[in-house]
Parts: sequence; structure tokens; C-alpha cells
Amino acid sequence: MTIKHIAIIMDGNGRWATAKRRPRTFGHQAGVKTVRSTIESCLQKNIPNLTLFAFSSENWSRPAKEVQKLMDLFMRSLTKETPELLNQGVQQNFIGDLSKFSPKLQNKMRDVASLKPDTFKMNLNIAVNYGGKWDVIQAAKRFNDEIIKENISADDINEEIFNQYMALSDQPPVDLLIRTGGEHRISNFLLWQIAYAEIFFEDVLWPDFHAQELNRVIEKFYSRERRFGNIGEHDNSHIE
Ligand code: IPE
Ligand code: IPE
Ligand code: MG
Repeated sequence: MTIKHIAIIMDGNGRWATAKRRPRTFGHQAGVKTVRSTIESCLQKNIPNLTLFAFSSENWSRPAKEVQKLMDLFMRSLTKETPELLNQGVQQNFIGDLSKFSPKLQNKMRDVASLKPDTFKMNLNIAVNYGGKWDVIQAAKRFNDEIIKENISADDINEEIFNQYMALSDQPPVDLLIRTGGEHRISNFLLWQIAYAEIFFEDVLWPDFHAQELNRVIEKFYSRERRFGNIGEHDNSHIE
């Protein structure tokens, strides 16, 4: 059993900073370092797809100052990290409604996403202004255009075809979903793509989620049995 796709809800930056009597932004800056170490770990483990929840469609409701600082940090991190990521074989992709961002940031994301590494090792999908419900709606809208254009019958609609319109349709579904920061919720992150993911809610705050924490979760993942609706692999009680 190999892991093809890890998704992470990176939560807890604000509380991490507050505990240190520092502004929340300090926590977001520390969070970028954890993003870096997480990418390194996934590269070492040959995990080909990593999806990170960086900014939700609900995060706009935060104080304008925090939102602005997050945008600045995002812009700076993209500029700083992209050359090294390309060298390491990382293809960056952005999922979410990007039209809400400043034209400058939109251009940046477009440029970064267009840069292809010479030797591909990993997709790094960054979810920004992303919402799982938004994703289903945008897929339905785009599919509807196709239905009208191609005169597709409702009988021909199936999961595989619908999936082609969802974000990350070119990548396998999520095997392992991690949320740091102690909350036990999805907060409108990937919905469709986590249908059969193993979910791990970790108490550790994101800036403290070091490589050994990720290793620990991955070990726990391997000890779980993914039955996909079937009976257990070692359950012979049905044989009479
Ligand atoms: C997650 O950390 C980062 C973003 C949502 C951008 P938070 O900022 O939500 O940190 P807490 O949950 O308040 O500690
Ligand atoms: C989820 O964290 C979004 C990201 C990590 C980007 P939030 O801190 O926004 O989630 P809630 O508000 O606790 O549900
Ligand atoms: Mg939070």
C-alpha cells in the first residue's frame, strides 16, 4: 500500500503565536517553515501529490490586517521558494476561486503554475480561497456547459465523468488527510476528493508539526486497514 496523495489542513498558527505572546502573523511565518519541512519529507518518501489548505473561502472574514499579512506572506513565499522547488522536481498548482485575489497575486500564481520542473517528482497543490462546496458547484457549472454543448444525456452522467470537472481531477483521490491544531472538522476543505481518505486529527499546532510528527501519522496510516466497504482482509469468519 503506497501513499499517492496527502492533504493537510494546516491549522493552529494563531494559537501557536498567541501562546508565545506574539502577533498571529508570527505564527503564519512559522507555519511557512513547516510547509517547507513537510515538502522535504514528502519528497523523501516519494509521495507524488501533496495538497495544502492555505486559505479558505471563509478566511476572508478575518480582520483585514491579518488577511493582508497572509497575502503578503503568500506572495513573498512564492517568490522565495519557487526556484528551489522547481530544482527539486515540484510542480506547484493552485486550486480555489483565484479571481478574488489582487491582479498581482493572480499573475504570480499563473506564472508559478506554468513553470514545469525538468524532472517531475511531486505536485504541490495549494488551496487558496478554496471551499469544498465551491468546488462541487464550479464543477457542476462547467459540466453543464459541456452537457449543453455535447447534448449529453443524464443517463451518461457518472462519478468518473463528473470527477473530470473537480479540482485535482488529474490526481488520485486523497489517501491521507491530516488536520493539525486539535479541531475535529473539515472546515469546507476537499469534500469529493476525501470520500475514502483516512483522517487524522492531530493536537499539535501547525508550526510544531515537524518531520517526526508527520512520520508518526504516516506510521499510524499504515497500521490502519482500508476496507473500502469490503470485509477485513484477515476476516475468514464468512468461510463456512
Ligand atoms: C491556520 O491557522 C492558517 C490559516 C487559516 C491561514 P489559524 O490562523 O487558523 O490558527 P488558529 O486556528 O487561530 O490557531
Ligand atoms: C481551516 O482553518 C482553513 C485553513 C487551514 C486554511 P480555520 O482556522 O479557518 O478553520 P475553522 O474556522 O477553525 O473551522
Ligand atoms: Mg484556525
